[in-house]
Amino acid sequence: MIPDIPSKLMHLIRILEASDSADFLFLKKAVSATKLSANDLKPFALFNHPADQSYGRHLLYESHRLKIFLMCWAPGDFTAIHDHGQTEWGCVIALGDFTHRLYYLEDERLNLKSVEPFGEGQIACLKGDLIHMMGNAGNRNIMSLHIYGSDSANKSLAKRSRVYFPEKKKVITTNGPAFLSCPEDSILEQEYFDSVDKNALLDYLNLIKLRSEKTRQRGVKGPARQIHPQEGIKSYNNPAEGGSKSDNTPAQGGRKSYNIHAQAGSKPYNVPEDIDGKLKNPALFNQN
Ligand SMILES: [Fe+2]
Repeated sequence: MIPDIPSKLMHLIRILEASDSADFLFLKKAVSATKLSANDLKPFALFNHPADQSYGRHLLYESHRLKIFLMCWAPGDFTAIHDHGQTEWGCVIALGDFTHRLYYLEDERLNLKSVEPFGEGQIACLKGDLIHMMGNAGNRNIMSLHIYGSDSANKSLAKRSRVYFPEKKKVITTNGPAFLSCPEDSILEQEYFDSVDKNALLDYLNLIKLRSEKTRQRGVKGPARQIHPQEGIKSYNNPAEGGSKSDNTPAQGGRKSYNIHAQAGSKPYNVPEDIDGKLKNPALFNQN
């Protein structure tokens, strides 16, 4: 039997669909108010994804301006380094402790910005130009909830994201997921890319090596991940100068305010009569 989407998540969806746009402060308040937990989402977890998919990706909700995925991470599951294409606003909610890397481009060169972990309960801002990599370096299954939004009618959610493969000296543009083994049919464009800072490259290769060890420990069979034949990769010393945080709270301004707590007697937020979207399984839409 397919479980119902938790009422807490439905509540969040209604808030987001009713908003004109959702800056990070708004998103953070809305998400915090719902008090979503890993237990609420456990019935939707999919940890038995195929070996060539480097993490589990379960689309829970989709509309013209909003997509919500539950990502499921077995030990050793990692994304590739990627940005978020045409996503205009969004966030990631950690429902477990993640290894996380933030990057930035400077003169087309990929550099490390932060190696701070992304811990359980944290909410991180997400926009199209955010370049990151995340994964599960621990020994138990964990999950994360990803919200992607776009208010421009001429843009499609999370499309045309760039995925970097430093070990293969290439970057691809895709409308698909940021798997470490990107399906050929999801590649829109492919370019030579060899402009990676040395620390960023060594750190990346160490993560890939760790992924390989973790997946081997859990007995995953499948196409082996190609590792750059580089000898003497040393332990990575945190190069992140100043230790920037992953929560980039954008400036407020020009936002309509909503009562996201919906307390008794308070003015209710404007819930649309008919949410212009659908859950991936209509049966899941039954809410009390
Ligand atoms: Fe991402």
